[in-house]
Amino acid sequence: MPPILPNTAPFAEEHIAALNRVISVTTPEQRAWLSGYLAGLQAASGSHAAVPAAPPAKRAPLTILFGTESGNAEALAAQARKAATKLGFAPKVIDMSDFTLAQAAATENLLIVASTWGEGDPPQRAVDFYEALMAGDAPRFEKTRFAVLALGDRAYAQYCEIGRKIDERLAALGGIRITDRIDCDLDYGTPASGWIASTLERLNAEVGVTDTAASDGNASVIHVDFARPGGEADAPSRAHPFAAEITESIRLSGSRSTSDTHHVAVSLEGSGIAYEPGDSLGIVPSNDPALADAVLKAAGLSGDDTLRAALIERLDITTLTGKQVEDFVRETGAPALPADWATGRQIVDLLETAPGALTAAQLTTLLRPLPPRYYSIASSRKAVGEEAHLLVAGLRYTSHGRERAGVASLDITARHREGDKLKVFLRTNPHFRLPSDDSKPIIMVGPGTGVAPFRGFLQEREAVGAAGRNWLVFGHRNYTHDFLYQLELQDWLQSKLLTRLDVAFSRDQPEKQYVQNTLWDARSDLYAWLKDGAALYVCGDANAMAKDVHAVLLRILADQGKQNEAGAKAELDAIRRDGRYLRDVY
Ligand SMILES: Cc1cc2nc3c(=O)[nH]c(=O)nc-3n(C[C@H](O)[C@H](O)[C@H](O)COP(=O)(O)OP(=O)(O)OC[C@H]3O[C@@H](n4cnc5c(N)ncnc54)[C@H](O)[C@@H]3O)c2cc1C
Ligand SMILES: Cc1cc2nc3c(=O)[nH]c(=O)nc-3n(C[C@H](O)[C@H](O)[C@H](O)COP(=O)(O)O)c2cc1C
Repeated sequence: MPPILPNTAPFAEEHIAALNRVISVTTPEQRAWLSGYLAGLQAASGSHAAVPAAPPAKRAPLTILFGTESGNAEALAAQARKAATKLGFAPKVIDMSDFTLAQAAATENLLIVASTWGEGDPPQRAVDFYEALMAGDAPRFEKTRFAVLALGDRAYAQYCEIGRKIDERLAALGGIRITDRIDCDLDYGTPASGWIASTLERLNAEVGVTDTAASDGNASVIHVDFARPGGEADAPSRAHPFAAEITESIRLSGSRSTSDTHHVAVSLEGSGIAYEPGDSLGIVPSNDPALADAVLKAAGLSGDDTLRAALIERLDITTLTGKQVEDFVRETGAPALPADWATGRQIVDLLETAPGALTAAQLTTLLRPLPPRYYSIASSRKAVGEEAHLLVAGLRYTSHGRERAGVASLDITARHREGDKLKVFLRTNPHFRLPSDDSKPIIMVGPGTGVAPFRGFLQEREAVGAAGRNWLVFGHRNYTHDFLYQLELQDWLQSKLLTRLDVAFSRDQPEKQYVQNTLWDARSDLYAWLKDGAALYVCGDANAMAKDVHAVLLRILADQGKQNEAGAKAELDAIRRDGRYLRDVY
């Protein structure tokens, strides 16, 4: 298919249409002739504006290192690379998992974009790099100019902790700071873009990339970002999601279950979304209109329909951070509140402390943008075609005497029904994939909704006829009410697609049984599978389950490998580096 000018090309709309009509019927030879002819014509006219560039004389190297879990830092690193290329740098974007500390210390110009996870932890793939940087024997960074962009969420106690620690450590090791670190909350888009631009300008002024085409006043190149139609630029994104119809929504939890988990199928027909097992779907949710009304009432702003629409569609009206409490108190002159007052509370509680104190504009400024939520895709396209299946647990809890509900999980499972549309986009997860050699065994630990990606894995392995053995460890509360996908899993056990299925139902016996207990009970088989080259996957709860499973894996490696704690840690690290210990936890 011939190239088509994007609608961002510097022509009037009708000219773009006219040019596209002509280009669409040209041959490759005609297009090559035309570009050469126009370039030559321009050169002969002596104008610099659109003459093809001579290659830049020398481009200053720039390494953009990112540490990410859900892709935000990676996307910003890519954005920084584009901006740096335009300025005439020679940038490289590298994942922390692919970079050693020695390589970092030998880098002249280093931008780091790092997110914080867990409770102030580095993203999993960044652990080795981070630990090496913090270790006593870390190399000096005296040759390195650096700047750090930290990503985080103010709702967490350890806000942007990892970026902050990396920044401090690089300075302590002699690194030369280009600009101050920026700590970015969930609405990082604008501040991050501003920081990238100003940091690169500063660096440019210091290292003088001025002899390159792009930054030279006599320069002649026009940088065009070639985004093919149907390519990445057109793919549904957080800003431009795809409206996916819900084709099926079934509550899987039994009627007497204490949880409320739904199987939700959406149609991706026409979206261009081509996911792989292991990927997640981003959902752009709406808030509960009843909660928006409660917020309006508490603010004394009921009747403002424009604000109401913004509260439902665009603004985060559930999370409350310490900074918002401080801003509110400062703005309204309301009495100060204790430092931890925000914990377990929401915006509505804050507004009720000083009703009617804010204008609509002040309230809008106080609120953060409504962030998307992610759900592991529980299907394989080879099995379900142009659909994606999700497994969504509706979140309900009570805090400070008020009943609360999860924004997205209830939006998907309660406020939307079959036939309605959800706003979706793809979040690829290239680091949570089935082994490329499908004869390799896999062990999947997925309690609760953590089983979702493993249903996708199993569908995929069945569809391609993979020879590798499959072992699933599932857990939940009650066998009778919470055995998600029970029939499918039991069918797969019967058909031998599942070599082994272990279950841990915590509330079925007086003593609680969790997946980590099951793993311990199965330790000699688990060790044998690992020795046979099995990849071990963990998905689900990050706070308790993933930590407990990690701890039991260390115990198993120590016990079965007859080695001490350090030996077990080294072995698990080696398995992880080998790409055989993979986690997608949240
Ligand atoms: C990569 C990834 C994959 C995921 N896959 C899945 C999946 O397959 N299925 C799934 O169901 N979820 C999945 N999640 C989680 C999902 O994205 C949402 O976080 C989850 O559904 C809750 O979102 P929500 O909007 O309903 O709740 P929110 O409105 O975001 O509310 C959650 C917040 O409520 C508060 N809270 C929760 N419980 C309590 C309590 N008891 N007391 C006080 N405060 C509390 C906490 O502050 C918590 O952060 C995944 C997350 C990630 C990052
Ligand atoms: C389970 C979980 C734990 C998180 N823990 C923290 C934290 O301790 N501190 C923080 O500042 N942000 C925390 N965040 C927010 C992330 O850092 C933030 O979403 C960031 O934009 C993610 O960037 P990434 O996609 O590059 O990983 C957490 C997010 C999740 C989902």
